[in-house]
Order: sequence, then structure tokens, then C-alpha cells
Amino acid sequence: MAHFEKAKSLHDWLNQRLAVDAVRRVMATEYWIPKNINFLWAMGMILAVTFGLLLVSGIFLLMYYQPNVATAFDSVNYTIMKEVEFGWLWRHIHGVAASVVFLIIYIHMFTGIYYGSYKKGREMIWISGMLLFVTFSAEAFSGYMLPWGQMSYWAGMVITNLFAGGSLHADGLVEWIRGDYVPAQAFLNRFFMLHVLLLPLAILALIGLHFAALRIPHVNNQDGEEIDFEAEAAKYKAGDKAGSKVIAFANDFMSKDMMVVGIYLVFFFYLVFYHYGFAMDPVNFDPADGLKTPAHIYPEWYFLWSYEILRPFPTDPGLIAFGFAQVIFFLLPFLDRSPNAVPASRRGLFNVWFWVMLVDMIVLTAMGKLPPEGIFSTIGLVAAITFIVLWILLPFITKKEKEL
Ligand code: HEM
Repeated sequence: MAHFEKAKSLHDWLNQRLAVDAVRRVMATEYWIPKNINFLWAMGMILAVTFGLLLVSGIFLLMYYQPNVATAFDSVNYTIMKEVEFGWLWRHIHGVAASVVFLIIYIHMFTGIYYGSYKKGREMIWISGMLLFVTFSAEAFSGYMLPWGQMSYWAGMVITNLFAGGSLHADGLVEWIRGDYVPAQAFLNRFFMLHVLLLPLAILALIGLHFAALRIPHVNNQDGEEIDFEAEAAKYKAGDKAGSKVIAFANDFMSKDMMVVGIYLVFFFYLVFYHYGFAMDPVNFDPADGLKTPAHIYPEWYFLWSYEILRPFPTDPGLIAFGFAQVIFFLLPFLDRSPNAVPASRRGLFNVWFWVMLVDMIVLTAMGKLPPEGIFSTIGLVAAITFIVLWILLPFITKKEKEL
């Protein structure tokens, strides 16, 4: 048993038992952040704050939501939206946050790609980030099932059908996932469990892993400069704050981060109060009806690019292309063979790769929303092929890159 002194204060009492001073040093006052970063480095904090908003609004919604096929639709559209005071506000916060979080995730990911922040010791940050992306996607999809509207039902049908594996005809697997032949009570119950318990727990654990993965390599900076964090921290601690290339996470950097978070929240609540409609599909205001297929079934905007990689091909190649799109981003740190972790603008062909990839994914998103007819289906096919070709080219063009 360790030796304990009689505590002089509550802080001292906690410090002896939980080493709160050491934790604060490691996580905050001696966690060093490069000065040379821009507002794009606040996206991670914005994501954490948005996840907090989702959690809190979700808890309020959970007080009135009913996971039952007979009452789910009304519990959302009447009880929460019309009867419970401010129920509409929590629903709009939840809906808008669910959509905006993906916009920020995409900005955060492309910032990482642009600055090469997935290389040189930062591979685990990237991999844990991608696990977060996949888990957030499952979280959004399972949440979309809960109001039990037409789009909930039919998107549930289409997505679970993918597990049949085309000509593999794994129909037993699809039934196992649904717990029935079609989406019904068992389906709603298990997606409810995933949405309110298992996936949020997984997200919390993954955020922990993501933050832990950041601690040793530290965040990158906008010049890709390799900083000697110990030497720069020593300068800072010796009082040469102006000469040091780093600042402490708390309170110095946090105060800058919070300014960007503040601006974001103004934009966020503007959407919540004045433009929440973009986050709600009108088709989902009709109750689920297994006998009435909507004319056009499409996913939410953040899944459209990968949906458009599935759609233009025949079933089996389409499924393979779709599977490819889901996993390929995980491999980025290993497919990028260049030794340089610097901004794409200094990386020659990789810069071209980056911008073509970004534009291609925007085109895929736009085409995914439109009916697959005429010119749109041709553009969709070209964009899907471009996506695959870009990934195949990546190791070759990056291998040729000279060390800077
Ligand atoms: C959705 C939940 C996420 C949260 C809460 C989160 C949070 C953070 C935070 C706070 C940082 C440090 C500051 C910053 O660079 O913004 C960070 C860095 C990073 N994140 Fe995330 N992140 C999330 C998702 C992702 C995803 C989906 C990816 C991409 C696959 C990703 C990849 C990275 C990378 C590569 C860095 C290092 C940036 C650098 O070194 O400059 N993160 N994240």
C-alpha cells in the first residue's frame, strides 16, 4: 500500500489518489501545439463539440421516442414535434448536427490529406479517424431508421439488401440482419439499440483512441515542418514564448480553438432555427409503407458519393466497387509512398491527384442525388471510374516523388 499524507485540500486529496496534476500537465498545460497552424486545425474540436450536441439532444429525444413500428412515427412527428415543449428544438438540433457533422468530417479528412497528416508516425491518427468515420456512418444510418418514415423503411430495405452480395444470394444473411424477411419490429429494435447504445459507446472509445494517437506525434503544421517538440517546449517553459515554435494546449491554444468553435456555433444555430429543412427529407414525413415504394430512393447527401460508385455498374462489379470505396481510405498512409509529409501544393503530381479526387467526389455526390438517366448516368459512370483509377495510380505517382 502506497503512503498517503493527510490532505491539505480537496485538490491535494484528489492529487494523491488520481494524480490530477500529472494528468493536467500531460493533457493540457504541457501538451504542445505548433503555432504554425490555421483554422482548419479547429475542425477536430468542432467535431468533438458537435458530437456533444448530438449526445445531449439525443438524450432529450430518447425521453419521448418509442421504438415500436406502430408508434415510432407519431412519437417523433406528433409527440416530439408538436406536443412536448421545445421538442422541435431538440429534434432540429439533432437533425442539423447529424448532417453538419459529416460536412466537418469531410473537411477534417481532406485537411489531413492535403497536409499529409497521416504519415510519419501519424498513421494511427488516420486509422482511428477512419474507424470514427465508419462508425459515424453506421450511427447516422441507424438513426435514420428510427422515425419509421418511408425513407427510413426503404433505405433500410436497400442497404440491408446489399448484404445479399449480388449473385452470391446470401439472403439468409440479410434476414439475419433484419431479424425478419422485411424491415419490421425486430429490425427497428436492433437499430434502436445500435443507435442509442452500442455505436455511441464505440464512438466515445474511438475518440479516446484518436486523441491518444495524437499525443506522441503531435499535430502536424501547415508547412509540414518537423518540429523538435522537446526543445521548443523547453524554450517556452524558460519564458521565451515568442521565440518558441509551440504553445501549450491549455489555455493558450484552447482560447484560439474556442473562437473558431464560437463562429461555427453561430452558423450552426442559424441553420437550426432558419434552415433545418435541408437536414430532413420530405419523403420521410410519410409513414413507412411496405406496399408503396417511393419513386426515387436515395441516401442522405453524405453517403451519395459512395452510392454513386455502386450505382452505375452492374450488380456484382458495383458491389465490388462499393466495397473498394468503403475500405480504400483506410489504406491511404500505406498507398502514399512518398517520404514527404508537406502540403500538397509542394508535392507536384500529388497536388493534381488531391484536387481531382476532391472535385470527383463532389461530382459523384451531385450525380448520386439525380435520377440515373441520360447524361447524368454517363457522368456518374466516368466519375466512379475516375475514383478507382485515382487510387490505383496513387502508389505510382507518389513513389516517384523526390524527397524535399
Ligand atoms: C468524428 C470524430 C472526430 C473527432 C472528434 C476528431 C478530433 C480530432 C482532433 C481534436 C484533432 C486535433 C486537432 C485537429 O487537427 O483538428 C484531430 C486530428 C486529426 N484527425 Fe480527427 N477527429 C475525428 C474524425 C477524424 C476522421 C474521420 C479522420 C480521417 C480519417 C481524422 C483524421 C485526423 C488526422 C489525420 C489528424 C491529425 C491532424 C494533424 O496532425 O495535423 N479524424 N482529430
